[in-house]
Amino acid sequence: MKEVCRPSVRRDGQRRTAWDGPGGRVPILKEGELDIISHSAEQTQRLGQRLGGLLLPGDLICLSGDMGAGKTVFSAGIGKGWGAIDPVTSPTFNLVHEHRRLKDKQRLYHLDCYRLINSSDLDGIGFDDVLNGRGPVILEWPERIEDALPKNRLWIELRVLEPTRRNFIMEAVGERYQHLLQRFREMTFGI
Ligand SMILES: Nc1ncnc2c1ncn2[C@@H]1O[C@H](COP(=O)(O)OP(=O)(O)O)[C@@H](O)[C@H]1O
Ligand SMILES: [Mg+2]
Repeated sequence: MKEVCRPSVRRDGQRRTAWDGPGGRVPILKEGELDIISHSAEQTQRLGQRLGGLLLPGDLICLSGDMGAGKTVFSAGIGKGWGAIDPVTSPTFNLVHEHRRLKDKQRLYHLDCYRLINSSDLDGIGFDDVLNGRGPVILEWPERIEDALPKNRLWIELRVLEPTRRNFIMEAVGERYQHLLQRFREMTFGI
């Protein structure tokens, strides 16, 4: 597979290099980070699916990026990999979408915080119960409520490069998420 060496900019402003996807060079930037390029919505779904299969109750996955970046496509993949009975789609009226699967009593929580102004909008919705609940949590637009989020999490920045190309920068904070990212990397890149 073609190897792309495209400079991109980290959240902390430092320049860095993004490598192309599976088959390309190992996309490690530093411990606890992974930089991937997806070439299609299907590939993004598959990436989500791999991650979804690894998730445990209490895991927090933050998907940050512009409208149309692919947060919901990735979430749908997570739902599929996790085993959700009903498909994960774009959240509509309810802030919290709760999904079930057949094999156990776990739940998968999917929230789209786009319409929230800040974390005070979470008052009274039992957000802590969601975070400490029976399943993993996926957040779209997590930056809206960042001050209400635990520091340990998997934070994923999605960027639109071209109509069908997306850059995923995955940043693991905390031991659990470093382990999760390591497993995801092994499954995706074989190393
Ligand atoms: N590589 C890609 N990854 C994800 N989505 C893509 C990709 N290429 C094109 N798309 C399209 O971009 C759109 C992403 O939509 P969506 O996941 O709802 O975005 P968001 O939830 O970030 O607003 C979909 O229409 C999808 O088909
Ligand atoms: Mg969305």
